[in-house]
Amino acid sequence: MSGHSSYVPSPGIMRWLDARLPLPRLLYDSFVAFPVPRNLNYAYTFGGILALFLAAQILTGVVLAMHYAANSGLAFQSVEQIMRDVNWGWLLRYMHANGASFFFIAVYLHIFRGLYYGSYKAPREVLWILGVIIFLLMMATAFMGYVLPWGQMSFWGATVITGFFTAFPGVGQAIQTLLLGGFAVDNATLNRFFSLHYLLPFMIAGVVILHIWALHVTGQTNPTGVEIKSSKDTVPFTPHATIKDGFAMVVFLALFSYFVFYLPNYLGHPDNYIPANPLQTPAHIVPEWYFLPFYAMLRAITFNIGPIDSKLGGVLVMFGSIIILFFLPWLDTSRVRSTNYRPIYKIFFWIFAVNAVVLGWLGSRPAEGIYPTLSLIGTIYYFAHFLIVLPVLGLIETPRKLPNSITEAVLKKHGAAHGLPAGAAASPETKG
Ligand code: HEM
Repeated sequence: MSGHSSYVPSPGIMRWLDARLPLPRLLYDSFVAFPVPRNLNYAYTFGGILALFLAAQILTGVVLAMHYAANSGLAFQSVEQIMRDVNWGWLLRYMHANGASFFFIAVYLHIFRGLYYGSYKAPREVLWILGVIIFLLMMATAFMGYVLPWGQMSFWGATVITGFFTAFPGVGQAIQTLLLGGFAVDNATLNRFFSLHYLLPFMIAGVVILHIWALHVTGQTNPTGVEIKSSKDTVPFTPHATIKDGFAMVVFLALFSYFVFYLPNYLGHPDNYIPANPLQTPAHIVPEWYFLPFYAMLRAITFNIGPIDSKLGGVLVMFGSIIILFFLPWLDTSRVRSTNYRPIYKIFFWIFAVNAVVLGWLGSRPAEGIYPTLSLIGTIYYFAHFLIVLPVLGLIETPRKLPNSITEAVLKKHGAAHGLPAGAAASPETKG
């Protein structure tokens, strides 16, 4: 935590603890008194939603693990048993499986919020990079979790994904053998995936703590992109942000519950209710929806590029599409942070968002006919956004005039426009 603490421990026991381990002071300074910009909107609530879902995934996962058997002869049956015989087992499993999907919905919205409001720009580069590390860990965790029920998609998904690594010349085969614990997906694979699937969420939790620490050093951005200039620009985290985050959580949980109770298998693949069969390849092997844009980019490279064969090319493009995010703070050359003040970039931002959704749809199509070509166009655009649009547009675009301060922007929107006196307009109700 940066800055000075206003915490006053009241009962004697708290004073005693504060002098020895000032944990309540840290929590108070971080989640009660912490000053947040007064104009945060609902796009800023996904971080809190993510924290809630991480906790829920860990809780439901730990209980599921009490009943799950990480053995290739028992795994499928043990999941069926959880669904039928364990008290509330069906609920735990559906919450955990759909929770993974909703975690990704929230993380994609959180990332796109960051892209829109330029959250990655100085001085928040480390905060952003920690986010990208969390995203990578989330993908690894979700991939390994999907293997555990040992259905057809589990087995063949694992076969396909670990097969990517053989594309790397020299070391590829050794990496794949290490991942699988043998020469094919088998019991050893299931065991190490279960072990890692249990471990990684705790690593994510550790990186989330660093992420929030970094956030509290730099403070949050806000829709104007203008930094906090005085205490008038902020309101205390509690009650303002807590109530707004809480309301967003309730709405998000309502949507989540609808899926858990009414469409529990909508986001999954029916083939995963068929036990894994190494002798029968499914007609179409498709990953979970949240991997589809990356899957489309992998399959877009159907040709050799000089000495790089198509398989290695696809793998490099797929990993590259995430690695490039690490460099984003230095690829965007604009002085202006928020897209609200960048009229031309705003158009490119939405093209990028639509392109990402279209890539996701292409990832769900078979790799034949027009689809690989469309995927290639989408892939080229994805990289062009980062390597051409962001660096060049930042230099040539004329941004709109920025407000002098957050308060000025809020007053203009809520006060002056309604003819209210400045004091009334600047009341905490104007937040958001
Ligand atoms: C488990 C996953 C994650 C959790 C629990 C988490 C949590 C949070 C929280 C609580 C905030 C402050 C509230 C908000 O702005 O929404 C935040 C801000 C932020 N997060 Fe995350 N986050 C996660 C993943 C990510 C990822 C994957 C990225 C980027 C790739 C990212 C980038 C950022 C950035 C740049 C900010 C600062 C936003 C700003 O002030 O403009 N986060 N995060």
